[in-house]
Amino acid sequence: MFPANVSSSSLFPLLGFVLLILCHSSLTGAQNLDQICDASGSFADNSTYQSNLKLYLSSLPSKGSVSGFLKETVGEVPDQVYGVSLCRGDVNASECRACLNKASLDVQQICPYNKGAMIYYDYCLLRFSNQNFLSSTDNQQVPKYNSSSVTQVVRLSQLLHLLLSSATDWAANSTKRFATGEMSNFTSEFPTIYVMVECTPDLSPSDCSQCLQSLFDPLPTDMVGRQGARVIGVRCVMRYELSSFSKVPSMLKLTAPLEDATQLRSAGKKKNAATTALAIAIPAFTALLILSLIYICYWRTRKRIIQSAYETVPELITGVESLLFDLSTLRLATANFSEENKLGEGGFGAVYKIQKEANNYVGELDTGSFVELLKACFTCTRNLS
Ligand SMILES: *[C@@H]1O[C@H](CO)[C@@H](O)[C@H](O)[C@H]1NC(C)=O
Ligand SMILES: *[C@@H]1O[C@H](CO)[C@@H](O)[C@H](O)[C@H]1NC(C)=O
Ligand SMILES: *[C@@H]1O[C@H](CO)[C@@H](O)[C@H](O)[C@H]1NC(C)=O
Ligand SMILES: *[C@@H]1O[C@H](CO)[C@@H](O)[C@H](O)[C@H]1NC(C)=O
Ligand SMILES: *[C@@H]1O[C@H](CO)[C@@H](O)[C@H](O)[C@H]1NC(C)=O
Repeated sequence: MFPANVSSSSLFPLLGFVLLILCHSSLTGAQNLDQICDASGSFADNSTYQSNLKLYLSSLPSKGSVSGFLKETVGEVPDQVYGVSLCRGDVNASECRACLNKASLDVQQICPYNKGAMIYYDYCLLRFSNQNFLSSTDNQQVPKYNSSSVTQVVRLSQLLHLLLSSATDWAANSTKRFATGEMSNFTSEFPTIYVMVECTPDLSPSDCSQCLQSLFDPLPTDMVGRQGARVIGVRCVMRYELSSFSKVPSMLKLTAPLEDATQLRSAGKKKNAATTALAIAIPAFTALLILSLIYICYWRTRKRIIQSAYETVPELITGVESLLFDLSTLRLATANFSEENKLGEGGFGAVYKIQKEANNYVGELDTGSFVELLKACFTCTRNLS
């Protein structure tokens, strides 16, 4: 939670400082969310470190806003400055630049002679140090949460887990390592849950995924049931709110079942189990059926093509191609089924997701490839007989 290089003996003054800053920012209504000045070392006026730091901070707004992420070193050891800055994935370059500009000015006021500091805003974060932390995956995170809570604590936790897991997968696989998501039909008071997750784009997909998961799996006890919370770290950031806060439309849109968790439980496990069974059985059966068809058809087609090697059967060859395409689509689908199953353990929210995904896959096959597939199979069986 605190910088790795802060020794425990210096924790008390640091805590005191954080408290002081928290009071200070709430009094002034300052835009910055939090800042921590490293207590590990300070530099002198007119020192080389100071000039390196000034150089770093003065170029930060323009350099750091090009891609929204900047990992920099300025100067030579032992006066080298190491810095990481990250803008929120949904802000544009000018907003990013303005935020970094504010950060670089504020941090010199708030932590005037500290060799290292972290500062966080809504749109950007900045961390610099005289220690090389650039390749460390230590997140040095700070949690923040809304003081109000919801009444449906368990339901919120379940839905959040599902939504944040999906958003994490999305972010980890995207080049920006950023994702926004929403889940509708939470409650009538708070219809939609909104989430945002982001990693520094230099993290590998699996490091990003791990970093984000460590923030919400499990959700820190302080955050359970809150109307909003975020964890801000040097490596990854997550946030959820019950009102919209993103500047871009949600990349991921899920729907929660309308019934609340307690109602569903008292309605008996029978209904739940039946829904689950159906949700799994229908796509599984469809997949099995299609796979069998593909197998038979592909095998027969191959046999026929081999038998009449010089006979051109364009219709059949097209058939085979589309079958192979379907096969890979199906592999993807079935792989996802098992993953969704895993997600579904212990949470009724996931059951809905299976159904939704299953419908999507059946729908996909219905519209194009499924018809193609049947046509090809009929052609192939007819040609053979
Ligand atoms: C730092 O440099 C400035 C200008 O060169 C000078 O006025 C100031 O006295 C110096 N401060 C220290 C502590 O050496
Ligand atoms: C960036 O976003 C702000 C606020 O949404 C907008 O006013 C501004 O015109 C945008 N700038 C650019 C260059 O798109
Ligand atoms: C997406 O991310 C998840 C989790 O990080 C991973 O299991 C999956 O293989 C990734 N998919 C792709 C297409 O990279
Ligand atoms: C807490 O969350 C509610 C619902 O999103 C919001 O209206 C309220 O402004 C938040 N309070 C704080 C202090 O952020
Ligand atoms: C979600 O809520 C809306 C509005 O209350 C409703 O029309 C819709 O049927 C609900 N969807 C599901 C899947 O429950």
